[in-house]
Amino acid sequence: MPVLSSVEGSPISRGYGVGGGKDALPRRLTKQERRGSRPLYCPADANVLLPPQTPVPYRLKSRTLNPDMPILDTLGRPVRDLRISVTDRCNFRCVYCMPKEVFGHDYAFLPHNDVLTFEEITRVARIFGTLGVEKLRITGGEPLVRRDIEGLVGQLASHTGIDDITLTTNGSLLPRKAAALRAAGLRRITVSLDSLRDEVFKAMNDVDFPVQGVLDGIAAAADAGLAPIKVNMVVKRGLNQDDVVPMARHFHGTGHIVRFIEYMDVGATNGWRMDDVLPAADIVRLIDRELPLAPITANYPGEVAQRYRYRDGGGEIGVIASVTQPFCQGCTRARLSADGKLYTCLFATEGFDVRALLRSGASDANVAAALSSVWQARTDRYSEVRTSLTPRSRKVEMSYIGG
Ligand code: GTP
Ligand code: 5AD
Ligand code: SF4
Ligand code: SF4
Repeated sequence: MPVLSSVEGSPISRGYGVGGGKDALPRRLTKQERRGSRPLYCPADANVLLPPQTPVPYRLKSRTLNPDMPILDTLGRPVRDLRISVTDRCNFRCVYCMPKEVFGHDYAFLPHNDVLTFEEITRVARIFGTLGVEKLRITGGEPLVRRDIEGLVGQLASHTGIDDITLTTNGSLLPRKAAALRAAGLRRITVSLDSLRDEVFKAMNDVDFPVQGVLDGIAAAADAGLAPIKVNMVVKRGLNQDDVVPMARHFHGTGHIVRFIEYMDVGATNGWRMDDVLPAADIVRLIDRELPLAPITANYPGEVAQRYRYRDGGGEIGVIASVTQPFCQGCTRARLSADGKLYTCLFATEGFDVRALLRSGASDANVAAALSSVWQARTDRYSEVRTSLTPRSRKVEMSYIGG
């Protein structure tokens, strides 16, 4: 694989100057670099072209404190997307995320008092809105296990000024929750589903949850008017790669958008190996053979999924190639953990304690100043500098920081 074997040949040479990681001297990217294409990975025998990147400049809404001077990190990236983890708990034990051996009965989940209240979350989101955030994604753990989650959606919808509010769920509780979430102001939703075969899906969620339960959740979301519905499938070689084409076929023509995600080395507990990754280019090729595809442009700069449409008009799919084609260059995502730590990368080891600030009586201006300085100091581009030698320890878990 091109990116992982060594630093040589990694995208370090593609625009960030010599050196990489936290020790590199940061410099502001040129406009050309900021708009430039992501590195492409396309094996010589691939018969499907990867889609071009859309050179759309970042646009910030007038709600931003000073729209002419957006908050930028050291690589010139604005903050546009806040991902909010509302709990570190989940009713599934997906083998790639919360392996049972680690997240067992004696695992120390966050104590109740450490978790941000809905009011605290809403306040942070509102302040982030003034810094340029335009999208809120509620995640977990499993966000629907948090009591009255629709109450949080309602607060975010009415008090932050941010219209694009979405949520990532495993779908198991959607039949009970979809209508209330829609009524509270949720517009769209992303549901995880890794296989359509019970034996494979149950082996992956590790709690014996059947496929039909998630399909019922997706149907409930559609009935409630949540749209579009995106279906996230993490592809692990040797485990569910044979489900890629059936999954594409199942959702072809439904209006739902399946996104095939390369299995990532997030956290320190899933025993990730490069051999487990099925490259997105291979996924595209597999689908294209049966259901011909054509690349389409990104919806917005920095979109994580590369989009393809079915040539027969049956809708679209996405592939998320964070391992073989890292997209740090356009990464505008901030993450707030359930206990109020701000992380500027999915692979971070340390977060900034926003909760302490909130609970010390800081004013909105003080909180905004703190969030701005954390963002302005940001140098993260983990996926671009990852090597086979990258240490696995200390990275925070996805169930804690949010998917
Ligand atoms: P929308 O475009 O708003 O629908 O959402 P999205 O494309 O951000 O997708 P979503 O939030 O569902 O993310 C899909 C998956 O992509 C996540 O579950 C992660 O596996 C991966 N992902 C998302 N953001 C990042 C990121 O910043 N870095 C990396 N390495 N992976 C990410
Ligand atoms: N690799 C890729 N995606 C992951 N997710 C969780 N763990 C991983 C991993 N190791 C993502 C999936 C899931 C969401 C909740 O988190 O997209 O749908
Ligand atoms: Fe739970 Fe989602 Fe992690 Fe699976 S991937 S264990 S559903 S948080
Ligand atoms: Fe963003 Fe970090 Fe993911 Fe790169 S690895 S895209 S910087 S979250």
